[in-house]
Amino acid sequence: MSDSKLIDPFGRKIDYLRISVTDRCDFRCTYCMDEDATFLPRRDILSLEEIVQVATSFVALGTRKIRITGGEPLVRKDILFALKQIAALPGLDELTITTNGSQLEKMGQQLFDAGVSRINISLDTLKRERFEELTRRDKLDQVLRGIKTVSALPFKQLKLNAVILGGHNDDEIEDLVEFALAHKMDISFIEEMPLGQISHHDRAKVYISSDELLERLQQRWHLSLSERSTGGPSRYYDIAGESQQVGFISPHSHNFCSTCNRVRLTAEGRLLLCLGNEHSKDLKSVLRTHPDDADLLQQSIIDSLVLKPEKHHFNLDEEPQILRFMSATGG
Ligand code: 5AD
Ligand code: SF4
Repeated sequence: MSDSKLIDPFGRKIDYLRISVTDRCDFRCTYCMDEDATFLPRRDILSLEEIVQVATSFVALGTRKIRITGGEPLVRKDILFALKQIAALPGLDELTITTNGSQLEKMGQQLFDAGVSRINISLDTLKRERFEELTRRDKLDQVLRGIKTVSALPFKQLKLNAVILGGHNDDEIEDLVEFALAHKMDISFIEEMPLGQISHHDRAKVYISSDELLERLQQRWHLSLSERSTGGPSRYYDIAGESQQVGFISPHSHNFCSTCNRVRLTAEGRLLLCLGNEHSKDLKSVLRTHPDDADLLQQSIIDSLVLKPEKHHFNLDEEPQILRFMSATGG
């Protein structure tokens, strides 16, 4: 059990922080952003030093796990500098990242050396043309080389994340599981979330539930619900005869709010208390008006927890309620 000092009004212990270090990305996934997406001006983004200050305060308050996300975190200049400092914070159990894989061939070894222990890699398709359609970039081979690079390194865990859109890539779920098993990786299938306005497809039309995917996979593999829980949104299944697992992240069909143990820091320094709500606290203004006041920063974090809502409400029949994109939020 963690000894986090961060407990929200619903008694949930917050011991997991996700940090988006940039809203920029070298891909343009159709479910995430449009081709002409606009990004925050640099001055509005936290500096790496400010990010390390926030991480330091959270760890002092009992946070045990930090995940670095984006946008694409590995396109942020000097990110290894921040990763090394965060990994070295006393009391932190795990530093993990979520990436689109484009920089892993180049940076895999450096990430391991910096102290990153687990990597989640987004991969929605194994077909080159479809990859280009989904991400608007012809980079599948580069991502596959990156996966090969990190597979050969002794990371504690590697996991694939696949967002499944009905009629676009749901015919590949079996192949994606095979690919994950061949690379000794876990895999999670994610239901698309209504974050930000996109023009590429109608989200309600491509919705396909995790239960439908599970049923299909069960025709090929024997899957049994695993004990493992990350305190998070994933439900994991053991695959008979394999040491890997398959997970489902189902914001629509399975509400996971009651065990939510996490908060998110956006690239512009807002502490977001829930992925599916707008409640947030502006930590950047605290950092910039009182640059060296660690006590004030910690108190601001503690005070912000009263804003954590009990649950999210995603509704595909309505206009998106959440106007920020995943790229600004950090998964
Ligand atoms: N719904 C679900 N997943 C999304 N991602 C980005 N945007 C969305 C969305 N609207 C995924 C990425 C990556 C993870 C960080 O979030 O594909 O796997
Ligand atoms: Fe980039 Fe990830 Fe968004 Fe794709 S989903 S555009 S990889 S931030």
